[in-house]
Amino acid sequence: MNPVSTLNYFMPTRILAGKDSVYNERSFLAQLGQKALVVTGKKSARINGAYDDAVKALTANGQDYVLYDRVMANPTDTCVYEAGALARKEGCDFVLAIGGGSPMDAAKAAAVLGIKDIPKEDLFGTSFTSALPLAAVPTTAGTGSETTPYSVLVDTTGPDGKTPKEGGPAKRSIGSPLLFPRFAFLDAKYMAGLNRETTVNTAIDALSHAVEGFLSRRANYVSDILAKESICLIMDNVEPLLAFTVDSAAAVFPAEAREKLLLASAIAGMVIAQTGTALPHSMGYLFTINWNTDHGRANGLLLKSFLFWCREREAAASISPRIPELCAALGMELEPFFAILEKLLGQREKASEAELQDWGSQPMKNGANTYIQPTQEEILRIYRESVG
Ligand SMILES: [Fe+2]
Repeated sequence: MNPVSTLNYFMPTRILAGKDSVYNERSFLAQLGQKALVVTGKKSARINGAYDDAVKALTANGQDYVLYDRVMANPTDTCVYEAGALARKEGCDFVLAIGGGSPMDAAKAAAVLGIKDIPKEDLFGTSFTSALPLAAVPTTAGTGSETTPYSVLVDTTGPDGKTPKEGGPAKRSIGSPLLFPRFAFLDAKYMAGLNRETTVNTAIDALSHAVEGFLSRRANYVSDILAKESICLIMDNVEPLLAFTVDSAAAVFPAEAREKLLLASAIAGMVIAQTGTALPHSMGYLFTINWNTDHGRANGLLLKSFLFWCREREAAASISPRIPELCAALGMELEPFFAILEKLLGQREKASEAELQDWGSQPMKNGANTYIQPTQEEILRIYRESVG
């Protein structure tokens, strides 16, 4: 465990977990303002009941609201400027995000733009000093965005905000303490209808957050405690994850396991809020933009080779070992963990030699955030072992 000699820990999100928490704990929503910009994706928040619960809670509080339901997977700059403009036009004084990572991330940027229209580079460069207060209702258990100060968006336009971006769209991350949700309402009932693919991929994303946070240079005493607890919670639910097949009805997955995975995801969010993510998240991004691979799966494809490399480097150099403690949290050595991961991932994608060479030559932003600094050769090796 990291020593307590220095510590800087900040987590201002109040977590309200439990069945019907949006309605039962609506007095917290009442603190946020008079009129909400409710930010959702196109359909799922209505199907899973979260939107109806939010409307019931707002109405009971006597709060007005306006709906922005045009957030797509991998939300764009155009989308958040549209949502922000709607908030200003409608006089919204707070934001309520409902959905997976995409609506929550979009809502955070909309909270900034809901105060005033600012140039795109000021948004991405975090040159803003205020944001509308935000509450989040996650409807998947993976992103952890409900407890982080991050918004990951796709930048699609040039400096004028209209013409297509030179060199094509790029994912960009905004991180500011102003983006922490004030409240996160965790209610696993919204996940009851999630299929095997989403359930498994989001669980792997949460696990990646906890593992990468534990192996971050910025890990600290508190983030380690949270990371290990999140890993334990996810590993406690490996059995139902393995038993959940593509042919299983969503209802077969135990409600209690969904509750634990949702909490584990929020805790893993609290970890990366402190530590950021590490190498797998940077590397997996290239699977997502080139192959449209699900974000959680992309991280999962890299975890085995990444952890193997960590263990090898720890053994070869005078690096304070982290892997034995990670294995204690996993409840097993790396090899049986890798076997579980393979079962969850199934058939791996295969990259061409040209793709491997291209990706292996690219700088990895979060490589620097990893507790061991990877060489470009090692990055290529991890890609090759993962999808070669
Ligand atoms: Fe992630």
